[in-house]
Amino acid sequence: MRIAVMGTGYVGLVTGACFADLGNHVICADVDEDKIGMLKDGEIPIFEPGLTEIVRINAKMGRLEFTTDIEDAVKDSKIIFVAVGTPQGADGEADLNQVKAVAETVGKAMDGYRLVVNKSTVPVGTGDVVGQIIEESQTENHPFDVVSNPEFLREGSAVHDFMHPDRVVVGCSNQAAGQMVAELYEPLDAPIIITDILSAEMIKYTSNAFLALKISFINEIANICDGVGADIKEVVAGVGMDGRINPAFFGAGIGFGGSCFPKDTLALIDIAAKAGYDFRVLRSAVDVNYDQPKRFVKRMGEELGGLNGKKVAVWGLSFKPNTDDLRESPALGIVRLLKDEGADVTAYDPASADGAKAEIPWLVTAENPYDAAKAAEALAVVTDWNMFKEVNLEKLKGLMARPLIFDGRNIYDPEKVRAAGFEYYGVGRR
Ligand code: UDX
Repeated sequence: MRIAVMGTGYVGLVTGACFADLGNHVICADVDEDKIGMLKDGEIPIFEPGLTEIVRINAKMGRLEFTTDIEDAVKDSKIIFVAVGTPQGADGEADLNQVKAVAETVGKAMDGYRLVVNKSTVPVGTGDVVGQIIEESQTENHPFDVVSNPEFLREGSAVHDFMHPDRVVVGCSNQAAGQMVAELYEPLDAPIIITDILSAEMIKYTSNAFLALKISFINEIANICDGVGADIKEVVAGVGMDGRINPAFFGAGIGFGGSCFPKDTLALIDIAAKAGYDFRVLRSAVDVNYDQPKRFVKRMGEELGGLNGKKVAVWGLSFKPNTDDLRESPALGIVRLLKDEGADVTAYDPASADGAKAEIPWLVTAENPYDAAKAAEALAVVTDWNMFKEVNLEKLKGLMARPLIFDGRNIYDPEKVRAAGFEYYGVGRR
């Protein structure tokens, strides 16, 4: 199958590379000339495990191409995936300008039947908007279909998630068009749910909203554990074994960040409001998430007798491990809050230190986690990179002015850390 993918961000690039790997001919298009130049040279502009290899192999095999010529990509392909950004606009609603621009180009450039598949996370009803724009932009009347095919890729494991999905969702008004998209996923051996476009668009927001809700819920339970002396890990172990609940996405800590949950929760609240409904539970989940880093820093201040002038090490800057992505990172929020309280912060992150410094010019970073901790009166672990779990506690203790750990991701065993001579505070840990 000849496929075009519009947009070479996380979703577009992973989708394009994986479809090429499944044997299709894929052309990835983007207006960003620098990005396309890099990709043509086999360089990947983002940090995503496994992606470089499949991009290079499939480009070498001639199955994966890159272009800035969007019209050419439309002419060349029967199926066009839309994977451009839908950033947060004013009032939290998703900004659809890039999606609309692609629809217009498709309408103008198409010279025969085209199947337009929307992967970008868009408000419910956007499928119709895309169809309307394509129709209005056409100079000659060519048939086309619009299908919704939301993505559920996690950064850091996006290639794995694409190749091993829990399910594939296809929303269509024409069954034959839906079937064509479903066939692309057949080699993956995953359940394929074919539904209408509005429901498919709703499935995407509902999934992300529920996962965000789960995290804020367990963070509140952890906050209560702090008050009553129970241990959140024990609680999750007991609760998660109930098959109706399950233990995934029940990791308490400093809250969720990234390019999806913060934006998509606000977008769904906005979608609900426009439909005349006040989504109270989700609004609360967003509020709880906003407060969680503040609670963490307040706790640090309490234990340290104030943060002003205190030397504090921060481990982690990206919004989660295995990515250099800093978007809406709660770790960065914590760095800023610590600075506001007058703390002297030195941070370390294995992938995103340069990006963080570009965003926060005053940020001091170290070359490794131990250097960051030198002479520190407290260490805050705020991104759960594996390398932090495997740290040499004895060495760390020898370097710090006061062996005090605030574990914002609950990665350590409190007993083990305390036995090594540290004072330890997790989120909801006994
Ligand atoms: C998410 C969805 O998982 C994915 O399906 C969707 O397509 C895009 O949004 P992503 O943003 O890459 O993916 O990250 P994810 O792994 O879901 O984590 C999101 C945030 O939640 C991170 O900040 C993470 O640290 C936090 N999180 C996750 C928790 O605080 N606790 C958990 O138990 C799990």
